[in-house]
Order: sequence, then structure tokens, then C-alpha cells
Amino acid sequence: MKFFLDTANLREIEEAASWGLLAGVTTNPSLYAREGGSLADFHAHIQRICEICDGPVSAETVSLKRDDIVAEGVELAALAPNVVVKVPVMPEGLAATKSLAEQGIDVNMTLCFTVPQALMAARAGARYVSPFVGRFDDISEDGLEHLGNLIVAMNNYDFGHPVEVIAASVRHNQHVVAAALMGADIATVPFGVLEKLVKHPLTDRGLEAFLADWEKVKNA
Ligand code: E4P
Repeated sequence: MKFFLDTANLREIEEAASWGLLAGVTTNPSLYAREGGSLADFHAHIQRICEICDGPVSAETVSLKRDDIVAEGVELAALAPNVVVKVPVMPEGLAATKSLAEQGIDVNMTLCFTVPQALMAARAGARYVSPFVGRFDDISEDGLEHLGNLIVAMNNYDFGHPVEVIAASVRHNQHVVAAALMGADIATVPFGVLEKLVKHPLTDRGLEAFLADWEKVKNA
């Protein structure tokens, strides 16, 4: 499973990239707003992210009509070669995805909650499909069960083009562990979760013991 960072924060992206594991970045309008981003700076901000991360960087469209989504998507895709246009799953979004895919532009279909939505996104030409996990948990449904079903269904078919499932709306370590066990291609995780994923108390305790013993070696 590849790790994407789910953020628009440049420092977080730089730090994760320095760890050597950053395979991509996903942003959305809320994440950009959280950074205090302005409309005027949006395209430049996406370009900065693309300079730090050479993997796919998802930039989301906000239009609701297919022609407008396509126009927005074409503009976003021109910002950098690794921009992926993020489009919500809805009828107009599917139509826009078809058109963008036909133009050779990679699309990440987002706000995906069900098996049919994922299959339809893939059929429309999406290169990535993003099932949301945490938002199911928010409404007291089992987000991981939904994710597992969706992965099984997607693996049943050959869509005639590469499609990767991105486990999204990840809130904690267990979401990531389960996504990996279920065979999600990618998990897009907030930086706070990524930091927790690299840690274990036994790692810290083991390191402490090694360092203490090394002091003995030095003083012997
Ligand atoms: C990523 O593609 C999604 O936009 C993001 O994971 C949504 O996460 P949230 O449900 O925590 O807002």
C-alpha cells in the first residue's frame, strides 16, 4: 500500500517527503481553507505542492455542471504534470470524468461511499477512486466494512485501464492497518496519523535500552 498525505500544508508535505515514503498528496477545498488559502493563490499553492511531491497531487474541482468541471479540470491539469483532477461522484462529475479521461487527464473520483459509486467512477474513466472511511464512522456506520466491500467488488473487474483505490477520510491508525490488510492500493492520511503510524512504544523502549547499553560500551 502506498502512502499519500491528506493535507494542503506545505511543511507537512516537505517533512513526509523527507521520510522517503510520500507517494502522493490529496487536497480538498476544506484542507486548503484550513491553511488560510485564498482563491488568488490557489493555483500557485498546488504548483508548490507539486514541486515538493513528484507523485500524483489531487486538486479538487468545485463546479457542479459537467462543462464547468471539465474547464476547471483542464486548468488544474495544466498547472503541473503530476496534477490529478479530483471530481465528486455525481452524474455531472461522471460525465466530466469521462471527458477529462478522454483528454488524457487523470481523475480521482472523491466523496465515494458505495460499491456502485466506485464501479461507476471506474467505468467513467477515473484513474483513482476515493472511498471515505471516517465519515461513515461519524454517522455510526462501520466505515471499514464499507471499504472492505468496495475493494472486493473493485477487484472483481478489469476496467480496461489502471484504477487504484485510495482509502480516504482516514482518522486513525486502525483505519490504515485495516486498509492495508484489505488490499487498498493507497491510504491518504493526515500528517498527525502518519506521525503516529511510525511510532510504537516498544520501538521507543528498545531504542532507550540500546542507547543505555551503548553508554556502557563507551565507558568499558
Ligand atoms: C481525501 O481525498 C478526502 O478529501 C479526505 O480524506 C476527507 O477526509 P475527512 O472526511 O476527514 O474530511
